[in-house]
Amino acid sequence: MITFNPYAPRLCKLVEVKTETPTIKTFVLEMPEPFHFRAGQFIELTLPGAGEAPFTPSSSPLEHDRLETTVIRTGSMTDRLHEVEPGAWLGVRGPFGKGYPIEKYRGKEILVVGGGCGLAPLRSLIYQLLSESYRYRRISIKYGAREPDELLYRDSYATWTAERPNVDFTCTVDAGAPGWTGRVGLVTTLLSGLDLSLPDTVAFVCGPEVMLKFVTLTLLKEGLSAEQIYLSMNRRMSCGIGQCGRCSIGPYYLCKDGPDMNYAAIQQYENVF
Ligand SMILES: Cc1cc2nc3c(=O)[nH]c(=O)nc-3n(C[C@H](O)[C@H](O)[C@H](O)COP(=O)(O)OP(=O)(O)OC[C@H]3O[C@@H](n4cnc5c(N)ncnc54)[C@H](O)[C@@H]3O)c2cc1C
Ligand code: FES
Repeated sequence: MITFNPYAPRLCKLVEVKTETPTIKTFVLEMPEPFHFRAGQFIELTLPGAGEAPFTPSSSPLEHDRLETTVIRTGSMTDRLHEVEPGAWLGVRGPFGKGYPIEKYRGKEILVVGGGCGLAPLRSLIYQLLSESYRYRRISIKYGAREPDELLYRDSYATWTAERPNVDFTCTVDAGAPGWTGRVGLVTTLLSGLDLSLPDTVAFVCGPEVMLKFVTLTLLKEGLSAEQIYLSMNRRMSCGIGQCGRCSIGPYYLCKDGPDMNYAAIQQYENVF
C-alpha cells in the first residue's frame, strides 16, 4: 500500500527568477502536476543542499500549473536561494495551513494591509479578490515599505485598480528618495480616518511583527473589533503539519490553525506580538 508522506517534497523546475528589489526576488516554479492552494496557505520550499523553509505563494490561487513565491534574502537558506538560476530543481511540500476564510466576507468591505515583504503573501489574496471583485462592496489595499526602492510589484498597482471602481490602492514609504512624489509616512498613517462601513469591514494584515502590532492597535482605535482583524503569523516553523510544536501560540499551532489568525482568537496570549 502506498501511503502519503507529508515530509516528501515534489520536485519542481525553477523557470524564472524576477528581481523585485535589491533584497527580494520572485521565484517562478513549473508544477509537475496541477497544484491547488488557498490564498494564505504556505509551502515548505527545499533548496537541495541548503535546507527547507516556509514561504507563501504570491501567485494567483487560480493558476495551477505554475507557482510563484517572493522571498526576501535574510539568512542562510534565502541567501543561497537568491543565487539559484532558472533550470534548477527545487522541492515543494504542502500546501499547509488553512488559508483566508474570504468566502465568509462576500458582500463586505475588505481592507488588505501589507508592510514590506508582507505584500508578497497578500498578493495571492489580492489576485483572488480581484478575480471576483464584483462580490465585494469594496477592496482597499494599503501598503507601506521602508523606501521607494523596496516597494514590491510596482508595475501592478495600476492594473489592480483599472476598470474596478470598487478597488483602491494606496502606498507610502517610511522615507522618501529623490524623485519620489508619493506619500511619506508609516503604513498606519494610511489607516486613520478610513471611510469604511465599519460593521461590514474585515482587515487582512501581513508584515513584520512590529507592523502587525501597530496596525492592529490603529484598526482597533478606528473602531474595528478584534473579530474583524486577521493577522498573518509567519513565525518560525519546522514540520509545517502540527507535529513539532515549534509554532504554538496558546492552544494553536500556527502551521495548522493559521498562519492567518483571527485576532480575537489569539489576543489573550502573551506571545502574539
Ligand atoms: C508560514 C510562513 C510563511 C512565510 N512566507 C514568506 C514569504 O512569502 N516570503 C519570505 O520572504 N519569507 C516568508 N517567510 C519567512 C521565511 O520562512 C524566513 O525568512 C526564512 O525561513 C529564513 O530562512 P534563512 O535560512 O534564510 O534565515 P535564517 O538563517 O534561519 O535566519 C536569518 C534571520 O531571519 C530571521 N527569521 C527566520 N525566519 C523568520 C520568520 N519566519 N519570521 C521572521 N524572521 C525570521 C531569523 O531570526 C534571523 O534573524 C514565511 C514564514 C512562515 C512561517
Ligand atoms: S511547525 Fe511544527 S507544529 Fe507547527
